[in-house]
Amino acid sequence: MTDRTQTWRVTHQHTIEYEVVNSPNLFHPQNLSLLSAGKTQNARRFVVVDTTVYKNHASQIRSYFESHQIEAQIYPFPGGEENKTPENFISIVRALDAFPIHRRDEPIIAIGGGVLTDIVGFVASTYRRGIPHIKVPTTLMGYVDASIGIKTGLNFDGHKNRLGAFTPPQKVLLDRSLLKTLPRRHILNGVCEIIKLAVIKDIELFQMLECHGSQSVDSNFQDEQGGIILDRAISGMLEELQPNLFEEELARKVDFGHTFSYGLETRHEAHLFHGEAVLLDIVLSMLIARSRGMLSEAETGRFFNLIAALGISLNTAILDTELLWESLEERTYHRNRLQRVPMPNGLGECIFLNDICRDEIESAVKNLEDWIAIKHDHI
Ligand SMILES: NC(=O)c1ccc[n+]([C@@H]2O[C@H](COP(=O)([O-])OP(=O)(O)OC[C@H]3O[C@@H](n4cnc5c(N)ncnc54)[C@H](O)[C@@H]3O)[C@@H](O)[C@H]2O)c1
Repeated sequence: MTDRTQTWRVTHQHTIEYEVVNSPNLFHPQNLSLLSAGKTQNARRFVVVDTTVYKNHASQIRSYFESHQIEAQIYPFPGGEENKTPENFISIVRALDAFPIHRRDEPIIAIGGGVLTDIVGFVASTYRRGIPHIKVPTTLMGYVDASIGIKTGLNFDGHKNRLGAFTPPQKVLLDRSLLKTLPRRHILNGVCEIIKLAVIKDIELFQMLECHGSQSVDSNFQDEQGGIILDRAISGMLEELQPNLFEEELARKVDFGHTFSYGLETRHEAHLFHGEAVLLDIVLSMLIARSRGMLSEAETGRFFNLIAALGISLNTAILDTELLWESLEERTYHRNRLQRVPMPNGLGECIFLNDICRDEIESAVKNLEDWIAIKHDHI
């Protein structure tokens, strides 16, 4: 007797739907956004808050939940890449497990920068095989990038985001007044991701940065134009993310600046922020594009003028061709053995390259000092 051949096919469709919402005065008791997803009678919330944000807003946050008679467990968590660890992930899970919440309608709330929303998102994606979560970004990096997509994660064994999941939040709530207290270096860190979008897909955003960027940086994006720039950056980012939420397509415009930066960031974790590494990658990419004739002299000059006008300084001393090449090889492996490097083809337009060679990287590094030294105002 042999077993009969049999196949069982399982198919299931799951719609992903979440809102990214501007929600000013988020901690004002009359603003119900924080509680709008989930039950509010006899309810609990587990709230992880960045320690710096908590220092600045502790009484507001506590009284928000008290005024709605929600029993809230506030868990302060320190920002910084060094805290995006499996150990901290376990600590958050322990605290959550000690404060049982209803796993369907008491979403956990993550209030902080990209480190916090990534790690708490990962907690949400794994705890009891998945519970809902809400993200509130408090850094510019989180506001225009880390919080608005569906990627969660933490660093593992020296690799960035080696553990993680694609898990959509229930909501992303944006209150840009939370950016008021952000140090300038962190503002500029987030600006690098806005520059990325502008160069690779949105010439109007580039022009907005040229006209108003420096004033918006000075006001921590509290000015009217700053709000417009942020809205536009978020729209552009979501336009790219939505059709490819699970990254089935590996050639992604939003990976502009995320090829050489990977190695830089990993090696210089202690003193280089994510956006700073991304910008170094972008400047090298601009010079590779320039040498291939994909950008004109004038366009390249405009880019360097913008960097200077925004007050961004580049730590070019760490640009080591070998490291950059290794990073490209690692990303090539990550992108299924094809480079798929997004590159500007004229400002605001993108193509993907698969044939970048080591020499091109080396001459881009060599040319960079010259480009930084030249005043481009005449271009
Ligand atoms: N999931 C994604 O798609 C995605 C995208 C981009 C970046 N990221 C991740 O984001 C992380 C970087 O995020 P980040 O730059 O926000 O870092 P971060 O979360 O470490 O925050 C930076 C610093 O700002 C402090 N801070 C936070 N909010 C503040 C506020 N309102 N006022 C004053 N200080 C405040 C934090 O305590 C921390 O010291 C990286 O780990 C990166 O991998 C994820």
